[in-house]
Amino acid sequence: MKCLAWIDGYVCDISEGQVPLEDRGYLFGDGVYEVIKIYNEKPFYLHPHLQRLQNSANAIDIEIPYSMEEIETEINGLIEKSECRGGYLYMQLTRGSAKRDHLLPEGTRPSMVMYVREFTSPASIEDIKPSSCITLPDERWMNCYIKSVNLLPNVLARHKAAEAGAEEAIFYRSGGIVTEGTRTNIFAVIDGVVRTHPESKLILSGITRMIALDILKKLDVTVSEAAFKLEDLENAAEVWTTSTGMEIAPVAKINGRPVSDTVPGPICKKLIEEFWKKVEAECYDGGKRRD
Ligand SMILES: Cc1ncc(COP(=O)(O)O)c(C=O)c1O
Repeated sequence: MKCLAWIDGYVCDISEGQVPLEDRGYLFGDGVYEVIKIYNEKPFYLHPHLQRLQNSANAIDIEIPYSMEEIETEINGLIEKSECRGGYLYMQLTRGSAKRDHLLPEGTRPSMVMYVREFTSPASIEDIKPSSCITLPDERWMNCYIKSVNLLPNVLARHKAAEAGAEEAIFYRSGGIVTEGTRTNIFAVIDGVVRTHPESKLILSGITRMIALDILKKLDVTVSEAAFKLEDLENAAEVWTTSTGMEIAPVAKINGRPVSDTVPGPICKKLIEEFWKKVEAECYDGGKRRD
């Protein structure tokens, strides 16, 4: 495949893409983004991602300079030109370029860029490597529902996890309330009930979280969108993360302690199978997933 970039309509190889030095996304983190998974040259759950982009843009008062139909056409065109069978599309919307000033500029046209990268998903449940997590205080701001490009606390927490030999850091707020991961939402099976933090300003409302909740409800699993604490996490029978990139990812260890003897556990395993069925229905016309 070709890794192509789209910069306000100009298409080039990703290595040649450039943005202006005074772009406010670069200077201030004044922008929002989306990551959309591509399976079989098709964007997965495109409309919910575009709706979330619109919500994030509204929250920080950026007017998207394209209609949703135009964006959809450009996304499909870029994926087609990239010949991407398995990958993701990154898109970023910033307030545009203006002389550096904290004050929001007037009359500046917001800028949108996107690019496509290859990314392979596991072919079967046996190929999924369960992850290790650490827990860390959530030091982010109070508007985590906005998918803002300001990801420094997430980046530093992810680095601390890597230093501890783990793949993800699970954030908690005061009172030990578990919010989410650096780039994932967190689910735990506690006393037979699947729990995840409710939608609020303290978490990003993940598209994969939404898909997982939808599947679990259809499977007749008892689900509660109610916050839980670190001590609940320690006693959980199953823990998994959800994200566009890593889909449904079982967690084997938290702070070095095994979650359970069998990972993925039965609910997580069923959820992964049903998630892949959704991918197959939407992107493979119901046929089997393949590269
Ligand atoms: C902080 C945070 N939470 C949750 C998620 C998962 O969201 P989604 O499932 O839409 O990828 C992400 C994804 O980037 C994230 O950055």
